[in-house]
Amino acid sequence: MDISDMRRDFESEGLERDALDDNPVRQFQVWFEDAREAGILEPNAMSLATSGGDGMPDIRTVLLKYFDDAGFVFYTNYGSRKAHEMAENPKAALLFPWIG
Ligand SMILES: Cc1cc2nc3c(=O)[nH]c(=O)nc-3n(C[C@H](O)[C@H](O)[C@H](O)COP(=O)(O)O)c2cc1C
Repeated sequence: MDISDMRRDFESEGLERDALDDNPVRQFQVWFEDAREAGILEPNAMSLATSGGDGMPDIRTVLLKYFDDAGFVFYTNYGSRKAHEMAENPKAALLFPWIG
């Protein structure tokens, strides 16, 4: 199997900065609704990337429980690796893998 040949053409309306909300959280709300309406499986599942003091990156799936202008909320165990890493380094990244 040649993985380099695997490519799906995504036809869409494109992405123009002028069409985006100035508030990224309001824009996320729009995209989240779009993902739900498109029937994406578990649209609230997100990849959370963190790295602790050693700089070694980690990534895992967590479920979004709530979001507003203050941020994105998920539930976890304070004893987990992700909790330790975020205590050491509060910078993190989220990815919503909305591939239908
Ligand atoms: C679909 C899915 C949803 C998950 N949701 C959560 C979650 O909301 N919170 C959580 O702590 N772990 C969740 N997990 C488990 C994490 O992916 C991870 O394995 C676990 O939290 C340990 O991560 P850590 O050792 O990097 O801290 C989920 C896993 C899957 C597959």
